[in-house]
Amino acid sequence: MRDVVAGYGGHAILHGVSLSVRAGETLVVVGPNGSGKSTLMKTAVGLLRPYSGSVLLGQADVTALGAPARASRGLAYVPQESNIFRNMTVQENLQVGHEFVNRSGSAFAARLEAVLDLFPEIRSKLRDTAGHLSGGQRQMVAMAAALMPEPSVLALDEPSAGLSPRNAEMLFEVIGRVAASGVTLLIVEQNTRLGLGAADHGVVLVNGRIRLAAPAAEVLADPDIRRLYLGGA
Ligand SMILES: Nc1ncnc2c1ncn2[C@@H]1O[C@H](COP(=O)(O)OP(=O)(O)O)[C@@H](O)[C@H]1O
Ligand SMILES: [Mg+2]
Repeated sequence: MRDVVAGYGGHAILHGVSLSVRAGETLVVVGPNGSGKSTLMKTAVGLLRPYSGSVLLGQADVTALGAPARASRGLAYVPQESNIFRNMTVQENLQVGHEFVNRSGSAFAARLEAVLDLFPEIRSKLRDTAGHLSGGQRQMVAMAAALMPEPSVLALDEPSAGLSPRNAEMLFEVIGRVAASGVTLLIVEQNTRLGLGAADHGVVLVNGRIRLAAPAAEVLADPDIRRLYLGGA
């Protein structure tokens, strides 16, 4: 993202945000509630058109493209809320993920196997109604469905939202597995410690402006960040 100004109804929420994720790396954007993290994500994936600035995917300027066109170019997105079809089974959710953006042309069965290797926790749940799963498992279904079209970039909005601390930790282990599979990750996360712990690089967003951008370990070690967001020394 380059110099992105974006918001709602003419009112800017992001005031000139620039950031980048290198292929194969994980960037986590942290920041307090209301700082503009979801707005940043919606702008990145094409659900919100910026007032100015641009969004690039690889070498291509995709600012004028909507979310479906970005998805077919390899950008997958798991929103913060309503990210699965609760009345459908787990397998049906993965089928929708596969068919909605059929990028790879790969057969469903083969792709299903590859994705389930990353999420063994849901392998035994394929016939279960997705809405009946635990919060952590529902997040895994959402991620698995997003990965079905073999995206190069996966964007996750607050994956740990609503999860118990233990389930949130488990979910970030799964996210680590996804990262290790080579997928580029852009994550926004309110849980600073957990998010940055899983990241190569970190960005701190406050009131729609980037306050700090550095390797994740440096952000975690920053005294101001520790004091403000990590509860003291
Ligand atoms: N659809 C919308 N219309 C108007 N204002 C919005 C909308 N979505 C979010 N906002 C406002 O934008 C600001 C940032 O929200 P958001 O990007 O959701 O922050 P975060 O994800 O960091 O909690 C908040 O003040 C919020 O009220
Ligand atoms: Mg949000």
